[in-house]
Amino acid sequence: MEKLRVNEQRLWLTHVEMGKIGALPNGGCCRLALSDEDKMGRDLFIRWSREAGCEIRIDAAGNIFARRPGLDNSLPAVATGSHLDTQPHAGLYDGIYGVLAGLEVFRTLNDAGIETQAPLENIVWTNEECVRFSPPTSGSMVFTEQLGIAELHQAKTTDGTTVGQDLQRLGYLGDHITMASHKIGCFIEAHIEQGPILEQQNKTIGAVTGIQGARMFEVRVTGQDNHAGTTPMPLRRDALTGATRMVLWLNELVADQGDDIRLTIGRFNVSPNSASTVPGAVTFQIDLRHPQMTVLNALEDRIRMGLAEKARQAGLGLTIKDICAFAPVAFDGALVAMIEAQAVASGYSVMRMLSGAAHDAGNLAALVPTAMIFVPCEKGISHNEAERATPGDLAAGANVLLYTMLSRAG
Ligand code: GLV
Ligand code: MN
Ligand code: MN
Repeated sequence: MEKLRVNEQRLWLTHVEMGKIGALPNGGCCRLALSDEDKMGRDLFIRWSREAGCEIRIDAAGNIFARRPGLDNSLPAVATGSHLDTQPHAGLYDGIYGVLAGLEVFRTLNDAGIETQAPLENIVWTNEECVRFSPPTSGSMVFTEQLGIAELHQAKTTDGTTVGQDLQRLGYLGDHITMASHKIGCFIEAHIEQGPILEQQNKTIGAVTGIQGARMFEVRVTGQDNHAGTTPMPLRRDALTGATRMVLWLNELVADQGDDIRLTIGRFNVSPNSASTVPGAVTFQIDLRHPQMTVLNALEDRIRMGLAEKARQAGLGLTIKDICAFAPVAFDGALVAMIEAQAVASGYSVMRMLSGAAHDAGNLAALVPTAMIFVPCEKGISHNEAERATPGDLAAGANVLLYTMLSRAG
């Protein structure tokens, strides 16, 4: 008998369809968490999931649980999923693939008339990306009780609203549920790699062994607003000049220390941002990542000391606020081995690898057996409209997801 396979064309077309929501001029899309576009993407996902026979549950963080009932619904669900929210200049795959691969698994099982012993779930986590509000992966952090629901609801968005108000406005404010009341037995997230390794190694499937550690800080540099035409250069307390020196110093610091450190300053705000006022304040964010906790600790100490020193030298004020800290994560060994074995059994080349990007799976890993399936993306480009993955690779990852979920669900 032919081995059961997902429908490659259908999986591809669901990406194309979802990508029309918040479409950008260069082929990408923008659906920031809890924006109107995010709501449209969520609504479409729910419609598709209901058509595939799922029951829908929404929690107080706006997470969506699409459940395909099993023969024994007292068993914990075998879960998959990812996120539908995007970066500002996103492609069609980061996060979206994990959710649509889960949907394709359900559709494939429906077509084949297969029922599983345990129920299956496909979960859309709220705000993986941390663009309109922080922290990143906030929906899965609430579900795994690493972030309080009240704290999330009070979080301010870049549009001046709170997350609680946005959830209410969009109709995505459900009851508060956590792992304690909503049992899942394991979590398997499919995702594009977002880096160059699979393509360079000519492999189709990455069996992800864990996620490197990450920390985010908000740095505020304060000087004094003053007149651009009258204030002599030596008398200025220019926060922008001070902050740009800090940015250059940070990049030199990590350039000195080898290839494993990732440091990014991707958000930088000048106040009052007026051509004829010496800037009195700058706020910027540092995204710092490394696989080892000891290295992250040492780097954080060095950064805090170095920035304080730079501020002192320039006569500027400095505060550093923690936004989030994720320890390096190791995924479940048995589940990683199962993914590897299912890839081989399906005829795909496979390698073990660590994830450089953060994922909701990192939060789940603390509580249930968790692992991830990576597929290649062209030239490793992601968080960019030029993000690309092939229909064949997307289907390969979904097939591995299908068989891994089946082996767990019975
Ligand atoms: C996820 O998008 C990350 O920034 O790692
Ligand atoms: Mn993602
Ligand atoms: Mn992302």
